[in-house]
Amino acid sequence: NWTADSFVDTTVADLKAKLGDDKVVLGLSGGVDSSVAAMLIHRAIGPNLYCIFVDNGLLRKDEFQSVLDSYKTLGLNVKGVDAQEQFYSALTGLTDPEAKRKAIGKTFIDVFDQESHRIEDVSWLGQGTIYPDVIESVSVKGPSATIKSHHNVGGLPDFMKLKVVEPLNTLFKDEVRAVGRSMGLPEFILGRHPFPGPGLAIRILGDITPEKVAILQEVDALFINGLKREGLYDQVWQAGAMLLPIQSVGVMGDERTYERVVALRAVTSVDGMTADWAHLPYSFLADISNEIINKVKGVNRVVYDISSKPPATIEWE
Ligand code: XMP
Repeated sequence: NWTADSFVDTTVADLKAKLGDDKVVLGLSGGVDSSVAAMLIHRAIGPNLYCIFVDNGLLRKDEFQSVLDSYKTLGLNVKGVDAQEQFYSALTGLTDPEAKRKAIGKTFIDVFDQESHRIEDVSWLGQGTIYPDVIESVSVKGPSATIKSHHNVGGLPDFMKLKVVEPLNTLFKDEVRAVGRSMGLPEFILGRHPFPGPGLAIRILGDITPEKVAILQEVDALFINGLKREGLYDQVWQAGAMLLPIQSVGVMGDERTYERVVALRAVTSVDGMTADWAHLPYSFLADISNEIINKVKGVNRVVYDISSKPPATIEWE
């Protein structure tokens, strides 16, 4: 009979036996899987687990600092790496979604490789691969997914001559959450919506600039906090905002405005493979639209995405 507690006990014992005094490097994403994998390995080998958490400049508002702080509170040996400039410069001028994914994947590998070389005698790469990732190692999403699967499952970029340790590769998502909960991972990490690796870069249609990222972070934060405030966050599977590459005419006081349009997206789903648009209350949509237009400078129109997957995807890129 599977329980989270017994899984933790056996896994930690196995990891101790397997890793001994070896050093492990692991990239934290802020998501559930990498966080739980890190906690298990940390419980087995303590400070010999070196965690790296990269700020790619494409995360949600204030996310990097708050997640980094909670990792530290959990006792993890974690290094926060500010690589925002590197990601923005890799993205300069790119508008094609797959080109953006590719540039982000490559930059992540560069940053991670550079950081892992600073750890002397590291011999293992820890990964938060879960069972469904193993099955779906050949993904549908194009180049970044190719990098992702190559990077996640068994194989390694050639330049990292590390052995792989994947303590979650027999678990499903709900089991991973149960393990994290039993190890004291905070609810705000356990219960969070999925968030794509390329982050806000695939929610800004067209080219990426720090200014656009800042606008979208504000819009996204208002939307997500509104969902939480109204008790709707846990009723949807994923939510976020898209910054569209168009301007529209509006009116503010006596002035005509010509500003940006954002699209809000919230979906219900079981596994992300199919999804329905979330039927959020009209009153909520009305309030959040007003709040966004009043508070976020440069945005004068909000639309709500009512497309299901298929044929639309959850992300717009
Ligand atoms: P789509 O847009 O394909 O998204 O319906 C399904 C789920 O996958 C996430 N997603 C990604 N995750 N790298 C990721 O790590 C990516 O390139 C990527 N593209 C989409 C998306 O957020 C949703 O949860």
